[in-house]
Amino acid sequence: MYPAIVMEHFLNPRNVGIIEDAEIIIQVGDPTCGDSLLLFLKIDNDVISDAKFRIKGCGAAIATSSMTTEMVKGKTLEEALALTDVQVAEALGGLPDEKMHCSSLAVGAIHAGILRYISPQEEGAAEQNMP
Ligand code: FES
Repeated sequence: MYPAIVMEHFLNPRNVGIIEDAEIIIQVGDPTCGDSLLLFLKIDNDVISDAKFRIKGCGAAIATSSMTTEMVKGKTLEEALALTDVQVAEALGGLPDEKMHCSSLAVGAIHAGILRYISPQEEGAAEQNMP
């Protein structure tokens, strides 16, 4: 069973949608389950002023994408790069071990998108870390 916070974010996900003028738009997927995430970040003076996502994924992926986008809004790019999937899972009250990989989808997208934004030549390296 999932903690109540996971269920709440799954049933009422925050930040679903697109940002037309986003500085960062990135799509990531998990080839083992077929889930995919499209992430949008609006950047103002190296601060994430808005974050939105569209997803085709499991309940845990929806809940962790919702929480991840909530957690990065207002953070600097450096702070967002330091965010981990474990921190997202903890903010949701925990995830079953078999669902921990789902939390990597949004966090991986955040990291890869920021790395590509600040250093476009890092894109190849960042995508190697995709879930
Ligand atoms: Fe694919 Fe959850 S089962 S991200």
